[in-house]
Amino acid sequence: MERVIGTDELASGERRSIFVDDIPALVIRLGDTWHVIEDVCTHDGQPLTTGEVTDCSIACPRHAARFDLRTGKALCMPATEPIRVFKVEIRDGAVWAAL
Ligand code: FES
Repeated sequence: MERVIGTDELASGERRSIFVDDIPALVIRLGDTWHVIEDVCTHDGQPLTTGEVTDCSIACPRHAARFDLRTGKALCMPATEPIRVFKVEIRDGAVWAAL
């Protein structure tokens, strides 16, 4: 696993663009839950970086497809394929992630 961010670096509701194994990724903190997702929409490659987060899902800023932050599942059109979601561990005061 790769260390991606310290747990004191983001407050709940905040996010940061990172790379995990050279893959563009987005780390999002929701309370004590951390999500790390591939930051590329499967519909047409748009970064999800600024997408609206609600109910544990993120919306693509371009055409509004939504993805579940836990599973990566595409929740509505126009996306049909899931995004990749990284496994996450919290240890040593940091967030660690790997596919
Ligand atoms: S590029 Fe994301 S919904 Fe079209």
